[in-house]
Amino acid sequence: MELPKGLAGVVVDQTKVSSTKNAVLTYAGYPIKELKDAPFEEVVFLLWHTRLPSADELSEFRKRLVSEMVLPEKTVQLITRITYEPQHPMSILRTTVSLLGTTNDVKRDDPPRILAKLLTAIAAIIRIRDGQPIKHAQKGWGVVENFIYLFSGQRPTPERVAMFNTVMVLHADHEFNASTFTARVVASTQADYYSCLTAAVCALKGPLHGGANERVFKMLETIRDTGQDPVQYVKDQMASGHKIMGFGHRIYKNGDPRAVILREVARKIAHETDNDSYFVLQEQIKDYMFKATHLHPNVDYYTALIYHCFDLDKQTFTMMFAACRTAGWLAHIVEQQAEGCLIRPSSEYVGETNRHYPSR
Ligand code: ACO
Repeated sequence: MELPKGLAGVVVDQTKVSSTKNAVLTYAGYPIKELKDAPFEEVVFLLWHTRLPSADELSEFRKRLVSEMVLPEKTVQLITRITYEPQHPMSILRTTVSLLGTTNDVKRDDPPRILAKLLTAIAAIIRIRDGQPIKHAQKGWGVVENFIYLFSGQRPTPERVAMFNTVMVLHADHEFNASTFTARVVASTQADYYSCLTAAVCALKGPLHGGANERVFKMLETIRDTGQDPVQYVKDQMASGHKIMGFGHRIYKNGDPRAVILREVARKIAHETDNDSYFVLQEQIKDYMFKATHLHPNVDYYTALIYHCFDLDKQTFTMMFAACRTAGWLAHIVEQQAEGCLIRPSSEYVGETNRHYPSR
């Protein structure tokens, strides 16, 4: 029997949260093309309840999330103690998520509270890294507006909120991707939500998954700073056996539908922030990659530039991915725990056999 390496193409369970069937990403049946401008809170509600909220429910849900966007002083102090160079922000986040699950004042297994605390903690890590004071969420503003304010210290314009909202909606879930599957494995043991989320953050950190966005921008910076020809750079990288970050996808072999939408956001914000030269580079690389390999850009390719245009340091990009994906992780954790079945696959043993321990 040939084993499907990396579980490629293997359906391991059922879900009502999201689907990539026929390479179309849907959340509880709604195509992301139609959800891209929906408020993030509405999309989170959809993922958690598999239905859209009424106007009253949405308003209450938004209020609840924003009211939870605050961290106890003790938690801020603890995050401050672990936030120092040269720690990578994803390592700080990994510890922070675990830490949130151990502070007495954070109730366990309450998705709205957990999502709000995580967004606030991610923004706090950014502020602390930058040596800036922590900001406080504003009642009456939405979650995305508050989140940008908490990490940047500036109230964003409605246009910037709309752009970031689209980024958050498009990243919110993606059926059984590596980090979500990791969260589900831990959830299947009936471990608490913070344990599931800590494991998910660990899986997201790697360059073949969420860690790709940081490396995409590193590539763009290297090409721009050294004045190299982007096509030659990419050719050389591939000739030395390196993958080009931000290209390829396990599911989408003919293009990632999220990247199509995000390309437009990247083009617009790059123009508004005098970063067109990065977008031009991206276009050159994209065209060459398609000609040479038929690989398409994935979701991380354009978010790298978008986050840069939001003045974020590239080392924090994968934390942004985690901020958006926490909603989906929580939906899957709840679904998996309700199912009550332990995930425990089998393996084919290919090591030595018939050995005997020598008698001494
Ligand atoms: N650059 C160069 N070649 C690539 C790339 C790439 N980015 N992606 C795939 N290939 C090549 C592989 O080397 C392989 O070639 P081969 O058949 O000659 O060995 C072939 O295309 C198939 O690739 P696989 O890695 O087997 O495809 P898989 O479905 O397992 O991988 C993955 C998908 C991991 C995303 C891969 O495309 C990759 O490593 N991309 C770069 C990292 C990245 O951008 N990750 C983010 C993914 S999106 C997300 O997680 C949110």
